Amino acid sequence: MSRSVKVAVLGACGWMGKVHTMSYQNIPFIFGSDKGTAEIAWLVDGSAPALEKAGRLVPNAQTSTDWRAAVADPSVELIDICLPDSLHHQVAKAALLQGKHVYCEKPLANTATEARELADIAAEKGLVTRVGHAFPRNPIHDVAKDIIDSGEIGDIKLFKACQHVDVLGDPNAPFMWRADGKLAPTGIVGDTGSHVFSFMERLVGRVSELIADCAIVTHKRPVVAGFNYGSAAALSGTEDMAEVTNTDATNLLCRFENGAMGIVDFSRVATGRKFMQTYEIYGTKGSIAYDYDEVNRLRFYTNEDRVGRRGFREIDVGPENATYAAFLPIANFALGYNESKQIEIAEVVRSVVTGEQMWPTFESGHHITQIVDACLDSSRRRQWVPIT
Ligand SMILES: NC(=O)c1ccc[n+]([C@@H]2O[C@H](COP(=O)([O-])OP(=O)(O)OC[C@H]3O[C@@H](n4cnc5c(N)ncnc54)[C@H](O)[C@@H]3O)[C@@H](O)[C@H]2O)c1
Repeated sequence: MSRSVKVAVLGACGWMGKVHTMSYQNIPFIFGSDKGTAEIAWLVDGSAPALEKAGRLVPNAQTSTDWRAAVADPSVELIDICLPDSLHHQVAKAALLQGKHVYCEKPLANTATEARELADIAAEKGLVTRVGHAFPRNPIHDVAKDIIDSGEIGDIKLFKACQHVDVLGDPNAPFMWRADGKLAPTGIVGDTGSHVFSFMERLVGRVSELIADCAIVTHKRPVVAGFNYGSAAALSGTEDMAEVTNTDATNLLCRFENGAMGIVDFSRVATGRKFMQTYEIYGTKGSIAYDYDEVNRLRFYTNEDRVGRRGFREIDVGPENATYAAFLPIANFALGYNESKQIEIAEVVRSVVTGEQMWPTFESGHHITQIVDACLDSSRRRQWVPIT
C-alpha cells in the first residue's frame, strides 16, 4: 500500500500552510511509510518573498503565486487549502471539478449552500474530502468517543462548551484579515465556533435547532501592515482605522436531534484568555469533561462507582492508544496542537491512498456550516431557527 501522494499546499507561507507542509514531510518519521507518504509538488502563496524562502526548504516543489497553476497540474492528486476563508469554496470547487481530492481548512465554505455543493460534487466524482479541524484528532477525544459509544455515560442530556482567545481582546489590537467580512464572511462563528461544532458533531450528534447572539464588540481597529496572529504592533496613533465587518463573539443555546440540550460560547475578545477550549458532556449514567489546559486528560464520572466513592477520575491518554504511541511511549508527556495536525494529515494521505473516507468529510463540513449559518441567521432575526 506504500505510495507517495502528490500534494499542492495553497497558502503555504501562512500559519496553517507551514504546519501542513511540515506535517506531510514528517509522516515517515511518526507513522512509517506503509500507509502512504506525501510528496509536496507545489507550494502556492500570494506573498512572493515568503514563497521564495519556503521554496528553498522544499527544493523539489514548484512554486506559484496563483493557485490555479497547481490545480491545473494533472500530476497533483491532493489539493490542500490553507487560504483565507472566503477562497475555500471557489478553490475547492475548482479542484474537485479537476478530479482532485481536497483537504480544506475550516470553515469549509462561506455558507451551507456552498458546502452542500462541494459535498455533492465530491460524492458524484468519488473523491476523498476532509475538513481541517485538527483538535478532535488528539487521541484523548478517541477516549471520549469510546466512553460515549460504549454507553458508559448513558444517554447524553447536556453539552456545554466554549472556545476563546484574546487576540482581539485589546480594542487597539490591529485589524487582520480575520476581522474582514470580505475575507472571512462568518467571522468568529466559522473561525472558532466551527471547532466547537466539530466536537458536537463528533461526540453528541446533529443539531436540530438553535438560538444565538452574535456581536461585533470593537467596530474599528488600527491598520498595521503585516499584522497577523503572533506579530507585535507598536502603534503611532496615526494609523488609518478599518471597520470590523464580522462577528467577534457568540453565545448560543441549541437542541440536538437526540434531544440533548447545548450551551456554547466563543470569542476572539476574551481579554487574558490566551487559548481556552473546553467541553462537558452530561449523561444519564455519568459524564466527561475536557479542558485544553490539560490537553491529554479527560475527566470521567460514573454512577457505577459506589456511593461515598463517587467523583471525577482523571484519565491521561497514553501508549495504549496506537496514535499516541506513534509519538511517545509514556502517558502525559502530552501531544499538542501540531501533533493533532500531524495525525490529521497522515489520515488525509491514508484516505487518498486507500480511498477510505475519514471524519470529518465535506458531509460533516456541510452540517457544521449549517450550524454557522443558523447562528448568524438566528442572531439577525433574534429567534430560534431550525436546522434541517
Ligand atoms: N484548523 C485549525 O486549527 C486552524 C488554525 C488556524 C487557521 N485555520 C484556517 O486556515 C486558513 C488559513 O489561516 P492562517 O491562520 O494560516 O492564515 P495566514 O494569514 O497565516 O495564512 C494565509 C496565507 O494565504 C496566503 N494567501 C492569501 N490570499 C492568497 C491568494 N489569493 N493566493 C495565494 N495565497 C494567498 C497569504 O499570503 C498567507 O501566507 C483559514 O481558513 C483559517 O480559518 C485553521
